[in-house]
Amino acid sequence: MTEYETILAETRGRVGWVTLNRPKALNALNTTVMREIVDVTTRWDADDRIGAIVVTGSERAFAAGADIKEMEEKSGLEMLMTDHFGGWARFAALRTPVIAAVSGYALGGGCELAMMCDIILAADTAVFGQPEVNLGVIPGMGATQRLVRAVGPYKAAELILSGRNMGADEAERAGLVSRVVPASDLLAEATALSDQIASKSLPSLYAAKAALDAAQETSLAEGLRFERQAFAALFDTVDQKEGMRAFREKRSAEFQNR
Ligand code: CAA
Repeated sequence: MTEYETILAETRGRVGWVTLNRPKALNALNTTVMREIVDVTTRWDADDRIGAIVVTGSERAFAAGADIKEMEEKSGLEMLMTDHFGGWARFAALRTPVIAAVSGYALGGGCELAMMCDIILAADTAVFGQPEVNLGVIPGMGATQRLVRAVGPYKAAELILSGRNMGADEAERAGLVSRVVPASDLLAEATALSDQIASKSLPSLYAAKAALDAAQETSLAEGLRFERQAFAALFDTVDQKEGMRAFREKRSAEFQNR
């Protein structure tokens, strides 16, 4: 496994684990973090031994945002020409299901990184927010679009325009968080969930994720068409035959593509 400067990356069974590792900066997301996360997760995405990815931080911070100190002196032209946050699009486009396991601060780019994942598991200590207006800017890693889709336009507007934080319970009520768990259980819950997901047939996981993504991006009619086509395509996999035969034979499926 490649050694990284700002993240810890390891595989546990069929799950790739990324742990953000800039404790002194509360895991602020600089360009090295972005490059390293994209590097390891795109490798795992191309590896059929990996069926799920977990991204997590420390107890104190998932990530306290994009690295303000790295950006502070840049000009608009530099931000534009280097496409400062552009690499994250590759992370958001992974085919493999990704779980964010969030404890502590998930602010600005940290909240936006969580929203690029498919599932957000939150410790009861998690704090979400988009404080960019406090810095004289706006969210730049997707919140004006993804937060609106996650919590609706009015809640998203209140959060983004005020820059206030919200706790895990409010985030769950708003629909941003899949599930809140006691902080001490977060990693165990993420392990159980990611192992469960990674035990399924990969083609079905890829298809389900792609169809879920289509729900965010297309009309209902187009999304439903996409779903029916993806559903039909899975009938040409050995795992569909095995899955349905196993049901009939009252046993667990032994999927080949996992
Ligand atoms: N960028 C760079 N460094 C950061 C950082 C960030 N986003 N967040 C925290 N740090 C650093 C602090 O500068 C501090 O470093 P020093 O010890 O060298 O001063 C260290 O992490 C610890 O932070 P604090 O001393 O501030 O810790 P605290 O417990 O008092 O406060 C906090 C915690 C409320 C999260 C506070 O650190 C904070 O407000 N951080 C910034 C949050 C923020 O504004 N995020 C948005 C960034 S912009 C963005 O993300 C744009 C986008 O859309 C992509």
